[in-house]
Amino acid sequence: MKRICIRIYQFFMKVASIFLLNKKQLVYKGEKELSHLCFDLSKRYKKVFLLIGPNIKKRGYELKIKDTLEKFHLNVFVYVSSSSEPSVEMVKEGYLSFKENDCDCIFAIGGGSILDLAKAIKAISANKSKPFFGLLKVKRNKVALVASPTTAGTGSEATLVSVIKDEDKVKKTIISPRILPDFIYFNPAFLSSLPKEVASSAGLDAFTHAVESFISKGGSYSTRKNAKKSLLLFKDNFLGFIDDRSDYSSAMNMLLSSYYAGLSFTRAYVGYAHSIGHALGGAYNIPHGLAVIHSLLYILPKYGSTIKKRKKQIEEILGIDISLEAYISSLLKKCDISPLNLEIDENKAMDLALLANKETIPLYPVPKIFDIASLAKFIKEIGEGRYEN
Ligand SMILES: [Fe+2]
Repeated sequence: MKRICIRIYQFFMKVASIFLLNKKQLVYKGEKELSHLCFDLSKRYKKVFLLIGPNIKKRGYELKIKDTLEKFHLNVFVYVSSSSEPSVEMVKEGYLSFKENDCDCIFAIGGGSILDLAKAIKAISANKSKPFFGLLKVKRNKVALVASPTTAGTGSEATLVSVIKDEDKVKKTIISPRILPDFIYFNPAFLSSLPKEVASSAGLDAFTHAVESFISKGGSYSTRKNAKKSLLLFKDNFLGFIDDRSDYSSAMNMLLSSYYAGLSFTRAYVGYAHSIGHALGGAYNIPHGLAVIHSLLYILPKYGSTIKKRKKQIEEILGIDISLEAYISSLLKKCDISPLNLEIDENKAMDLALLANKETIPLYPVPKIFDIASLAKFIKEIGEGRYEN
């Protein structure tokens, strides 16, 4: 009975997302379209809050953007924030500066943390002192948000979620279509200095988003179409991009792969690879992309016949004559990524299983719902690198 209630909840969320997620984002690519973006911003806004992290500042990636914005008579205030996971204090500090400088547009260049911070500043600017954490709490407001990702993985530019640590260091989410970026700017040059490990972890995260949303029970023709676009771009560009991050063609295609996966999972959601990955990653400090790809590799066979048709479709999209699991294993070998080698005792596994279950149920329309004892067993085996294939 409980499972029926969960599936009914997920069905209503799927219908609601059709109405909530109908905002059209404007996408601009490369140096050529930067002027176009700045021109479009200059028609509606006066002062841009250029939000960057210290690494972007060090490499001077924001200078060209600032110059071009100013060429179109926009005032610019550059704000450098820490690129660590954003906290409520960072959001309040950023908003104070945004308000004091009388800005009406946020242009964020960075990884997932900087983009989450930008979304939260937009939320606080709308809600002022009212709470913004939770589902659909953000009020309507006129502040524009431009997102320019510097990794190809999170897909944050396409999602309506921001994760922020509260005063007690607990991670909380803001979920609202009103924090979805209005404009997206992709520049492959921003990825050229990414370390190889960061680039591969991020790319595998994007791949996991595409696979999990493709097999999700919350998926639709449109989400699977975006997941398919993501997978096609991934298969042709991931390994080339890992080998040479300054190959702008591969980098742009990986940015797009991550974006399409983001468009897909923000509507169809992810699944156990993510909830288990978050629990394991948080407890053992494993990079997100690695935690989720190991969890995905393990969980796919556990779904069994429930994903048979979708898995076959993914194998066809990837053009492989081996199983999806074997393909993932070969990718990990090519990226020099070994199975996890953790020792997780029964109690710890149970704690992590409770966390994973809390994240999954009732929100994620996973192909198959597992009980907590099974999740604890899975977590122990993923941690010990024990896979079926
Ligand atoms: Fe992810």
